[in-house]
Amino acid sequence: MLLDKLLVNSRLIISGGLPEKILVKTIDYEPGAITLGTYSSEFIATHPPPWIAKVFDDCLANAYGVRKTIMGAAEFMKEAIRKAKDRNISVICSFLEKNHDRIKKAVDIYHSLGCDIIELNPMPLYITMQTMLPGEKSFINLVSKIIKTIKEQTTVPVSIKFPGFINKVADAWRSWKSSGCDIAHVMNAVIPATYLAPPNYKPLLGSPSGLGGLTGRCIKPIAIAKVMQLGNSGETEIIGTGGVIEQEDVRK
Ligand SMILES: Cc1cc2nc3c(=O)[nH]c(=O)nc-3n(C[C@H](O)[C@H](O)[C@H](O)COP(=O)(O)O)c2cc1C
Repeated sequence: MLLDKLLVNSRLIISGGLPEKILVKTIDYEPGAITLGTYSSEFIATHPPPWIAKVFDDCLANAYGVRKTIMGAAEFMKEAIRKAKDRNISVICSFLEKNHDRIKKAVDIYHSLGCDIIELNPMPLYITMQTMLPGEKSFINLVSKIIKTIKEQTTVPVSIKFPGFINKVADAWRSWKSSGCDIAHVMNAVIPATYLAPPNYKPLLGSPSGLGGLTGRCIKPIAIAKVMQLGNSGETEIIGTGGVIEQEDVRK
């Protein structure tokens, strides 16, 4: 199995929301891999704060977008990769581009930085295109095209971070796998979600629609169900994310 070869153990630190310093510190606890935040050549889905709202304990609504460019994050990525390599820990480098040349450039940079897995995180694309997007199928096709371009450019294993609005995970995976994708990372935030804050009960998140995605303990049953569906379809190269907070969650 590919993931068995890449990981010294199956505990992963999936970041994004974590401050960079803390993420680098987590390497001391010897996870199998760390995932860096998603970067792009330009900011995506940026808007005024609030970006995050607490919905329940351990449950957030967030409309975070991509707030750092690949160039802006390069020094941090180098530091994280250097430290991880010293300890034989894999680094999953996440990006989002949709333009052909930009995809190739980003992949070249990630390749030369020494990323062990290159991950495509298409969800911020959905946040920007939400009102325009005709549906799941055209989104799946768009992502398939991006995966093909990535695979033309690199031999580094490629992972896809499933946006939380993909419900037929096995169907989406069939299409992405046949485009060359190696690893299914299920899942990103459950989307759409919003939070209406008292006293006027207007959406709190600063995104134009007031919408974002739900993360944390409250999405665990959904994440587990999707991982289970993929597993039942025969797939084994799966990274499970969503509401994993305690050891028992990892076991499940
Ligand atoms: C503030 C914040 C920022 C995030 N940034 C990223 C990101 O940059 N890239 C990414 O793939 N996922 C990002 N995520 C999504 C998480 O990686 C994860 O998929 C999602 O939160 C579900 O897992 P959880 O319930 O364990 O939080 C972010 C989540 C939060 C709360």
